[in-house]
Parts: sequence; structure tokens; C-alpha cells
Amino acid sequence: MPNLVLVGAQWGDEGKGKIIDVLTEKADVVIRFQGGNNAGHTVKIGTEEFILHLIPSGILHKGKICMIGNGVVVDPLALLQEIEELATKGISIDNNLFVSETCHIIFPYHRKLDLVKEEKMGSLRIGTTGRGIGPAYMDKFSRVGIRLCDLLNKDVFKRKLEANLEEKNLVLQKVYGEEPISFDEIFETYTDYAQKLRKYSANTSLLLNRAIKEGKNILFEGAQGTLLDVDFGTYPFVTSSNPTAGGACTGTGVGPTSIDNVIGIAKAYTTRVGEGPFPTEFPEDLAAKIRKEGLEYGATTQRPRRCGWFDAVIVRHAVSVNGCDSLAVTKMDVLDKLPVIKICTGYKYKGEMIYDFPLNIDVLHESEPVYEECEGWQTSTNEVKRYEDLPVNAQKYLARIEKLAGVKIKIISVGAERGETLLLDSVF
Ligand code: GDP
Ligand code: IMO
Ligand code: MG
Repeated sequence: MPNLVLVGAQWGDEGKGKIIDVLTEKADVVIRFQGGNNAGHTVKIGTEEFILHLIPSGILHKGKICMIGNGVVVDPLALLQEIEELATKGISIDNNLFVSETCHIIFPYHRKLDLVKEEKMGSLRIGTTGRGIGPAYMDKFSRVGIRLCDLLNKDVFKRKLEANLEEKNLVLQKVYGEEPISFDEIFETYTDYAQKLRKYSANTSLLLNRAIKEGKNILFEGAQGTLLDVDFGTYPFVTSSNPTAGGACTGTGVGPTSIDNVIGIAKAYTTRVGEGPFPTEFPEDLAAKIRKEGLEYGATTQRPRRCGWFDAVIVRHAVSVNGCDSLAVTKMDVLDKLPVIKICTGYKYKGEMIYDFPLNIDVLHESEPVYEECEGWQTSTNEVKRYEDLPVNAQKYLARIEKLAGVKIKIISVGAERGETLLLDSVF
């Protein structure tokens, strides 16, 4: 049975949560494979809105298994709060959630370091979400991180926390002039979190591979987006993980032979939160208009999102590095009122046209977007249920995106709600 990886094809916030929710109907297991609670995935069901940060967006469907894979960094407080919030909304979480025992844990010193590092960088800051994601991944790759299985063993936890805190406090005091963080406070609160999280802890790689053997449908839920990938994004203005499809294997413990399909998600325009290059960014008046129309404010930090035209260069890059075999295009309805819509088809660099995304940020900085114009449709698309019923100019716009991206569009989204989705072809 097919297993599908879903990835963001831009700078995050493409509507992954909504599409995961729609696709979960056909899935048995939904698993997050990277990132942490820097993610904010919105699912709208009727008048109710859910924002998921760590728990897969499939959790709103009864009878589905959700997993947090080993590639995710977990802030226990954020996870426990999310579980509690869902419970108050009638979504019960018990035997349907498994957290990899090898997930690395985010501590208060990671959050603190995230903030003071950004402050120190001044105008060169990344504009992180401040959730301690980068520092937690630094510890993982420096081989000093504390994993969920370590947290669950009081002696191991004590030993590792002591060693970590000694070093972190030195850095906080000597490099950043901050107050040291108390061992006792962390040890006590995190021992308490450990007790609450124990029942979710599992060898998720084993569970996932068993489910695959049984022929279950697996949905791998990417967070962030291709252009925020630490290897394939606009480095250094990226996150500290691999949101691209390869991350689905290392972040869950399944082999590439277990992945059948990869779907990339792109908005019908582009947004970005945080600092870094954004070739097709709108001038502020148009940005304000689209931000208002598309409610473009961060689901995690509430920061206003930067907005711009659809950039086919970056989406082509995403299709290439993820091996996407289809695309989902979201938020078509946000463009409903525009008389003219632009698509960036290539960049001009030192007087020459380039069509491949430049991984060297210095080249990107000197690249100018080159546009073609499409006639707007100036009709509401919210209520459209079939592709044939989309305004002709909307169909032409999508066909152009398809051609430029070099891959079929199989899902079109015309509103935030579940039902406002056009499924053109099976993606599983
Ligand atoms: P994610 O991080 O990729 O899951 O995306 P976010 O949830 O951060 O941001 C997407 C926003 O757009 C959310 O507020 C969604 O409810 C909303 N959304 C998703 N699809 C559509 C759509 O087709 N039209 C409109 N108007 N809103 C959408
Ligand atoms: P979802 O899953 C959009 C951005 C931050 C910042 C950079 C690094 O909702 O699409 P970090 O805190 O990860 O170290 O910040 O990455 N960023 C996101 N932007 N959507 C996200 O997640 C993001 N997660 C991180 O704004 O520019
Ligand atoms: Mg988001």
C-alpha cells in the first residue's frame, strides 16, 4: 500500500495542516519527522480552528494513529499543553499517540540561548521562532543532547543535565552576560513531565515498519518548507532540520524503499516569516492587502508574514530536491480579487537569465525576478467543488504553474475548511 510524504514547497505555512487533515481520511498512521513546536499547522473544521505544533494534524480524525518521529525535537511543556488543549476541545489522546523514545528534548536553556543568540546577531539575526529549536539540534549533533529515554531514567537524566547545565551556564554567563539557570528547578519540573509523557514513549521506528508490513497507509507530515531546509534552503536563513523528503526517512527510521509518493504543497502566491532573501516580495501596499485577504499572520508567533508573487524557480527547486510527483496548490481564493497576477519564471543574474534556484545566497541576493503576467479571474472561488467550475483564468493560472513546476497539480484548495478542497486525482 502506498506511503506518502507531504512537504512544504516554499518557506513554510503553505497549508500543510489543512491538506494533512484532508488526506488523513485515507491514512492509517500520520507521523511528524522533523522540526518541533516552531511549526504551527492550522486545521479548520466548521467554525472550530485547531493549531497543531507538535502533534500530527491527523489527530482530529478518530481511529488514526499519530506519531512523533525521532527527528523531532520535543518541548515537553508544549506537548503536554497541546494534549490538554485538544482534550478541552473533545479530542482525546491516549492510545492513539506515540512519541519516539529517541526524540531530543528542548530545555529552558535552549530557548534562552535561541533568544540571546538572535539578540547578539542584531541586523544579521535569522528571525527564529524563539522556541529553542536551533540550540536543541546543536546539542543533538554535538552528541550531548538529552533524549526522551534519558529523561525517563532519573539517574541518567540527572547525570546528563548536570553536565549540560554546567556548560550552558558558563556560556550564558561569560558570552552573553546572562544569569545562570537553576539545576533544581529544571530537574524537578522535567521529572514531572517525564512521568506524564512515559505512556506515549515508544520505539516508533519499529511500530512504523510493522504498520508498513501490514499494508497500512502512512502519511509523513513535513513541517516548515524546502526553502527553510538546512541543506537546500536559503542558508543561513533556515531552520535547523531537513524539512525535505529525505528527512522523512532519517526522522522516522524507515528506509527510502518504503516511500511511494511525495507531494509538495505551495500557496498560489508566496509567504515567508522571519529574515532572509525573498525575491518576489510585494511592495508593502500589496503585501498589506494580501496579508489581510489571506490572514497571513504566523500560527506560532503571530508575526505578520511577508507576502509575494508565486515563484516558479523555488517551486521547481522544491520539486527537484524532494522528488515530488504531484503538487497541492492552496489559497487560490486569496487571489480572487486581483485584476493581474504575476508569476516569477526565472531570475536575471548579472544580465543573464537563470532558471535554476541558486543555492549560493550571494547569487540569490543579486538576482532579480523576471515575471510573466496572467489575467486575474475576479470571481469568488470559495464555493467551487469541481475543477471544471473554476473560472477559466484560474484554470489557466494553475496550468501555467503546473507547466513551470514540471509536475501535476492533484489538489487545489480554495478555502481554509476541509470541504473547500478539490481533489483532482488520488495522491495515495
Ligand atoms: P502550515 O504551517 O503549512 O500548516 O500552514 P499554516 O496553518 O501556518 O498557515 C496556513 C493558513 O492558511 C491557515 O490559517 C489555514 O487555515 C489557511 N488556509 C489553508 N488553506 C487555505 C485556502 O485554500 N484558502 C484560505 N483562504 N486559507 C487557507
Ligand atoms: P510551519 O510548519 C514558517 C522560520 C522562522 C525563521 C526560521 C528559523 O508552520 O510551516 P527556527 O525557530 O526554526 O529556528 O526559525 O524558520 N520558521 C517557519 N516559518 N513556518 C514554519 O513552520 C516555520 N518554522 C520555522 O520564522 O525564519
Ligand atoms: Mg504554519
